Amino acid sequence: MPVIIEPDPGSIEALAPFLPAGSHGINSADKLDSWLAHRTDEYAVVIGPNVSLDEAITISEGLRYTRPSTSVILVRDGFDTDVLYRAMQAGCRDVVRLEDEEGIRDAVQRAHQLWLALHGGSGTGKTGHVVTVFSPKGGVGKTTTAVNLALALGDGGSRKVCLVDLDLAFGDVAITMQLFPAHTIEEMIGAEDLLDYSMVEGLLTRHEDSLMILAAPAGPDARDRVSATLIARVLRTLGQEFDYVVVDTCPSFDELTLQALDETDECIILATLDVPTLKNVKVALETLDLLNIAVDHRHLVLNRADDAVGLDDAKVEQILSMPVSVPIPTSTDIAAATNAGTPIIVSQPNHAASRAFKELAQRLSSEVGDSHLAELVEPTEDDSRNRGRRLRLRR
Ligand SMILES: Nc1ncnc2c1ncn2[C@@H]1O[C@H](COP(=O)(O)OP(=O)(O)O)[C@@H](O)[C@H]1O
Ligand SMILES: [Mg+2]
Repeated sequence: MPVIIEPDPGSIEALAPFLPAGSHGINSADKLDSWLAHRTDEYAVVIGPNVSLDEAITISEGLRYTRPSTSVILVRDGFDTDVLYRAMQAGCRDVVRLEDEEGIRDAVQRAHQLWLALHGGSGTGKTGHVVTVFSPKGGVGKTTTAVNLALALGDGGSRKVCLVDLDLAFGDVAITMQLFPAHTIEEMIGAEDLLDYSMVEGLLTRHEDSLMILAAPAGPDARDRVSATLIARVLRTLGQEFDYVVVDTCPSFDELTLQALDETDECIILATLDVPTLKNVKVALETLDLLNIAVDHRHLVLNRADDAVGLDDAKVEQILSMPVSVPIPTSTDIAAATNAGTPIIVSQPNHAASRAFKELAQRLSSEVGDSHLAELVEPTEDDSRNRGRRLRLRR
C-alpha cells in the first residue's frame, strides 16, 4: 500500500481519501528508509505538498536507483513547468495537484500496474517471509543452520519452504542434503525481466522432506554473472509462493548478499565463540545499521555455544550489544550428519541441536505472526542458558 510523506497531519487527511485503504502516512522523509526496509512490495511513495521540492527531488533520485519499481508521486498545491521538469529528471513518475482527486487516484493505479508488470505479478503480492542466514565468517555454521532451520520451518510439509543457496561460488546446500540438482540459479542469468514463478519452479530441486531447494551454480565462475536485480526478483517471486524463503549466504558483504539482506524480513546472524569472528560480526552489525537493514529483525544465533574457550554468551552479548536468541551446542553428531547427507534435525530430531533449530524456527514464526508453529510448541525448563522459553515440539 502506498506510503505518504507529509509533515502536516491535515494534508495527510486530505490525501488519504484519494488513496487505497491501508495507505500509511509518515511525517518525515528520515523515516522512509526504515519503513521501506521490510516492505519489498511497496509500489508507491506519495510525497505531500509540504515536503520541499529539494527534499522531494532527493527522495526521488534515491529511490530511482534503490527501488526502481516503486513509483514516486509528487503532490503539489500547484506547479509550473520548471517543477515538472525537475521532478521528471529526478525520476518522479507523476506530478499531481493536491485538489486533483482523480489525478492522484490514476497515478496510484498506474504505480500499482507498473509494479505488477515489473514483478511478473499475478496480483497476489508478497505473502511469504524471507529469512536470511548471514555471517561475515566462513565455517561458522551458516549452511548447517539454514538447512536445519528450513526443515524446522517446513515442519514436515505443513509449511511451504524454499531454501535458496546464495553462496553462489561455493554453495554446499545440495551436498549437505545429498541432492544432485539438475538445475541451478545459473539458468536464470539474463532472464531478470522475464522471470515468473513457472520459470523459477522448473529450476527447483525437491528434498524428500517436502523442502524445495534453489541450488547454487555447479562452478564458481557463474557467480560474477548473477545480478543483484536477479536476486531481488527471485526472492520476491519465491516469496509469493512459499510461506518461508530461507537464504543461505556466502561470508562476504558483496552486492548480491546485500541485495538479499535488503529483501529480508528476518535476519539470522551467526557467531561463534572466537574473537576474530566476534570482531567481524560486530563490524557487520554496524554496517547493517548504517544501511538500515533488518533493524529490529535480527536474531543472533551462537553456534558451538558450549565450547570452553574462555568466552561465554554473556560476553558475546556484551561485545555485540544484542541478546543471543538461540545457542546451538557443539556436537560431532552435527558434523557427522552433514557428512552423511542427512541433516541432524532429520536423523536425530530430539538431539539438543535439533531442538535448538526448532526453537529458532518457533521464534521466527512468532516474530512474523505465524501462529502455526507457535501452537506446536510448549515451554520446558531444561536449559538455564536460555532467558526465553525453551520449546519443544508436541508432535
Ligand atoms: N555446532 C556444531 N558442532 C559441530 N560441528 C558443526 C557445528 N556447526 C557446524 N558444524 C560443522 O562445521 C562445518 C562448517 O559448517 P557450515 O554450516 O558449512 O559453515 P558455513 O556455512 O558458515 O561455512 C560443517 O562440517 C558442519 O557440519
Ligand atoms: Mg556455507
